[in-house]
Amino acid sequence: MEAGFYHQPVLLQEVLEHMQIRPDGLYIDATFGGGGHSRAILSQLGPQGRLVVFDQDEDAYRNRIPDDRVTFVRENFRHLERFTRLHKAQRADGILADLGVSSYQFDTAERGFSTRFDGALDMRMDNRSPVTAADVLTTYSEQRLHQLFQDYGEVTNSRTLAKTIVTLRKAHPCAPSLSSSRLSSPSSKATPPNTSPRSSRHCESR
Ligand SMILES: C[S@@+](CC[C@H](N)C(=O)[O-])C[C@H]1O[C@@H](n2cnc3c(N)ncnc32)[C@H](O)[C@@H]1O
Repeated sequence: MEAGFYHQPVLLQEVLEHMQIRPDGLYIDATFGGGGHSRAILSQLGPQGRLVVFDQDEDAYRNRIPDDRVTFVRENFRHLERFTRLHKAQRADGILADLGVSSYQFDTAERGFSTRFDGALDMRMDNRSPVTAADVLTTYSEQRLHQLFQDYGEVTNSRTLAKTIVTLRKAHPCAPSLSSSRLSSPSSKATPPNTSPRSSRHCESR
């Protein structure tokens, strides 16, 4: 991870005002990211205060704050109850969740979140997960892709999109590597996805 800008915390003052931090309180930041909100909360905590933070992203974890009052849990916050119990932090005075993707994740091409860069279609927030977005696009059935785009894609053409991907896949079985910019391009409907050296090897070894 490059040093420098990671993420500009949104509504920082409003968040702090709303949370009414008690110096000896226990707070949870469910989405640590670059730690902007966490650092602000920490600055209002006294020596007895505690902050438990969650982020499933390895880069966010590398960015953690070296402070005895902070516990970093590198897990999906859906397990919040379990891990706060484990860390004896169930009785929180406030929980913050700044949902979504960080600027850092968007701006790092190889993470595959942005259509501005030509990166591999990874899109994993947690790189311990074995399944990338490219895996989904190259292995899911048309019906499953349609359902996925319909439920989560915020697109109006989920059926056509699923059909186009499966058609491309069938036509070019040895070129399964879709990149993020390629996926967003209108020409992706008509042309095969990029063939990377990695994807060719993958195909040969099958
Ligand atoms: C918008 S950023 C948070 C930025 C943060 N408030 C700051 O000031 O830098 C969202 C972060 O939440 C993490 N995240 C998103 N969904 C998550 C989940 N279900 N479990 C754990 N972390 C998650 C992402 O990895 C990302 O780092």
